[in-house]
Amino acid sequence: MEDTAITPSTNTPTSNAQASGGESVLKIWGKQPLQGQVKISGAKNSALVLMAGALLCGEDCRLRNVPSLADVERMGEILSALGVKLERHGDVLEIDSKHIGQSKAPYELVSQLRASFFVIGPLLARLGVARVPLPGGCAIGARPVDLHVRGLQAMGADVQIEHGTVNAYISGGKRRLQGAKIYLDVPSVGATETLMMAATLAEGETILENAAQEPEVVDLANFCRAMGAKIRGAGTNTIVIAGVPNLHSADYSIIPDRIEAGTFLMAGAATRSPITLTSVIPDHLAAVIAKLRVIGADVVEEGTNRLRVVPGVEYRATDIKTLPYPGFPTDLQAPIMTLLTLCEGDSVITETLFENRLGHVPELNRMGADIRVKGNHAIIRGVPFLSGAPVMATDLRASAALVLAGLAAEGMTTIQGLHHMDRGYDDLEGKLKGLGAKIQRVTLEEEPGAAPAVAAPEASLLTSP
Ligand code: UD1
Repeated sequence: MEDTAITPSTNTPTSNAQASGGESVLKIWGKQPLQGQVKISGAKNSALVLMAGALLCGEDCRLRNVPSLADVERMGEILSALGVKLERHGDVLEIDSKHIGQSKAPYELVSQLRASFFVIGPLLARLGVARVPLPGGCAIGARPVDLHVRGLQAMGADVQIEHGTVNAYISGGKRRLQGAKIYLDVPSVGATETLMMAATLAEGETILENAAQEPEVVDLANFCRAMGAKIRGAGTNTIVIAGVPNLHSADYSIIPDRIEAGTFLMAGAATRSPITLTSVIPDHLAAVIAKLRVIGADVVEEGTNRLRVVPGVEYRATDIKTLPYPGFPTDLQAPIMTLLTLCEGDSVITETLFENRLGHVPELNRMGADIRVKGNHAIIRGVPFLSGAPVMATDLRASAALVLAGLAAEGMTTIQGLHHMDRGYDDLEGKLKGLGAKIQRVTLEEEPGAAPAVAAPEASLLTSP
């Protein structure tokens, strides 16, 4: 019997991160109706960059609404390696970066978390020198850092890439970076954030043109402002930063995770369950809500920070193109593909941001979906139902797509590759259980026959958003 070879593991947010290193799988018994409400956690992509942003400040900072995620733990390890003192109490993180003892981020940690490259801007601005290993490629595409590097050079940094490490220091005998006018070829979220952080402590004014407008960029700007930075225009395509000599202590609460919120909206739609999300910012989900309505599920605002998904009877196909904010987010491309597999007719998803972000397609097809890939397009022909199967998560958002598929499918689904999910979803299975899902994380015992039916892919340290 399959179940005799496995034992249930604990299901707390902290244990998720630990379990991710072991042989855990997620079992989902599909077609259980969901009900009730779920509280959305703080945004992963804000938490990671705000933790790096705290390096700018020579005093204590407090971040609230910090999600419990493996990625947040890794970012904490990177900051600790730089000499930062961190203390976590629930969702509050105290960060004391008064005494940064190191300007070099350790390769072993940076290679596991692309977002750790964010430390380059604050380190350079604060210490005048930064040495950060290149984050490398990743499961979802090449993801270069050329825009970060060119922007820092425009601000007076000498930046050399030697032996896989980006070595940067402030050149020309200056003590501070110099304000500059920088046009970004593409509105990169990471480059906008790196340059905005670096510019807060620069001498003079920096203008970032064609900047990213994502809510997490605005969150970073608000956090920097809480520390005394002078930033205007965040949330538009032109951000102006007037440098100040130093920043001070701040107590700041991170925005809710719009990607987690979107995933739960889709869970409600895919399982035909009316569920309520609390602690959300509906404006951040405008593109997602619009698409859900086209498909045939309604989303109702219940007050300022609550959303209720009202499922429809029949769902229609639609086309989706991923775009920078306020367009449809690439991080929800995989989850909405699951929903489109159950819509009447043909849908086309075009992934425009990352070239290798359709790894979930073969896995969804294993569950009975009918999806073909042509270049960066996925053509999804709706099917009447999905059937549970053993599947493998190939990246973070693919893991969410498979969880949704498992919830909607007939029979049992077993998902491997949970380390991806644990990187970016705060207690996903606990929250789904709270809504009535039949879902269980189990640890495979080390004995013959315990291995699940699908082969594990080659282990990869490389990460995705
Ligand atoms: C961030 C998010 C990720 C999200 C992505 C797009 C974090 C930790 N991750 O990733 O979840 O999917 O935004 O919304 O916040 N590019 C360059 N040169 C550069 C930088 C980027 O060409 O120097 C290109 C990338 O290859 C990509 C596009 O710009 O095609 C957008 O990438 P970017 O916005 O930088 O994504 P990340 O910041 O890595």
